[in-house]
Amino acid sequence: MMTINRRRFLELMALSSAGLLGSRYLPAQTVTNNSSPSDSPPVLQCPTETGITVVWAVSRSATGTVEYGTAPDKLDRTAHGDIFGLKPFNSRFLQVRIDGLKPNTRYFYRTVTRPMKFEHAYSIKQEEPVAGEVFSFETSGAGTRSGTFSTINDTHNNQSTLKLLTDRLKQINSSYTVWNGDLVDSFDNENIAVEAVLRPANAAFAAQNPMLFVPGNHDYRGEWARNTPQALPAWEHNDPKDKKFGRNFVVRTGPLALIGLDTGEDKPDRHPAWAGLSYFEPYRVGQRDWLERALKSKAVASASFVVAFCHIPLFSPDPNANGGDTLEGYARFQRQANELWSPLLSKYGVQALITAHTHRFKYFPADQTRKWTQISGGGPQNTSTVIHGKAEGNTLEIIADDVIGNKELGRWQFKKR
Ligand SMILES: [Fe+2]
Repeated sequence: MMTINRRRFLELMALSSAGLLGSRYLPAQTVTNNSSPSDSPPVLQCPTETGITVVWAVSRSATGTVEYGTAPDKLDRTAHGDIFGLKPFNSRFLQVRIDGLKPNTRYFYRTVTRPMKFEHAYSIKQEEPVAGEVFSFETSGAGTRSGTFSTINDTHNNQSTLKLLTDRLKQINSSYTVWNGDLVDSFDNENIAVEAVLRPANAAFAAQNPMLFVPGNHDYRGEWARNTPQALPAWEHNDPKDKKFGRNFVVRTGPLALIGLDTGEDKPDRHPAWAGLSYFEPYRVGQRDWLERALKSKAVASASFVVAFCHIPLFSPDPNANGGDTLEGYARFQRQANELWSPLLSKYGVQALITAHTHRFKYFPADQTRKWTQISGGGPQNTSTVIHGKAEGNTLEIIADDVIGNKELGRWQFKKR
């Protein structure tokens, strides 16, 4: 165990000295031992106009806080991550929500991890706290001139592809990374969530630009799948009736609104492979009403550009394609979600839907009946894509890059709604 800790520590320190983890603004507090309790860089998630969640992995039992402020040398506030009076304590994941922030504002932050030995209820031993590097992020909101995003998908914990993808994400430097599903083959245990999600190719890929998780069918597989909110926290909707839809989100960034939808598994709930544990059909029905409320919300209704994301395509040009509703094979598109959600995407003027799942890059322009363009990303072994967009002025431009072939696959412009 110690060897793994030391190796991870050395890897993180190598990244740090290469500037990959570090901040340009302030030298981090020096870590003076070789058993840093952190096992990943921080991963920013669930970004709103007034809050953000910081998640990081640890290699042994620890608690943690996040120090933050509006200048790198003035981290004068602390978020404690407390729930019902208890601060976090976990041997693999720490999660701290920061609230009460201002929209469109840059904040600087660092994690502070304190290893602890929990011997029994009346004997808890604290070790010295270890501060991480200082990073910064900007809260979302309509008040910026432009809005940007990058999408990756179907990474399946392929570390060499993740290296290419995270390098490209760093170059593009979009405000948000949408990770459009199938991060793993299956969530069999917590270590996969650390390796495949929190430190993909050892990159600090979302320490400054938040990640938006959109689940794929594989992300619902494995004995540990119900524990993914430890690494991938659920969205906290304002309306309590939306609590069930914690994988759906709306993020407003300048003139652009981003919407996340969850297509769930790729076979029907009655499929014997699920042993009766799947309930995605009612979940897709529920998301229809959530989607309509989201499309009518001020954040979306007032946006000049709207892009939606889901893992399984909603459209297939093949009339005989598997719609995920038969016991044979698996979905090439999601027929039920298509019937429920696609008319709303047309009615409320969503310009593009970015999907994944088929491991083939595809572009289908809007037509008379389907008023949105569908772009599907590639797979982990060939044509692995970063699909990135920038909305500014009267135009949204979306570009698809193949990071394995190192070439551009296409670029498309969308006029303001
Ligand atoms: Fe998939």
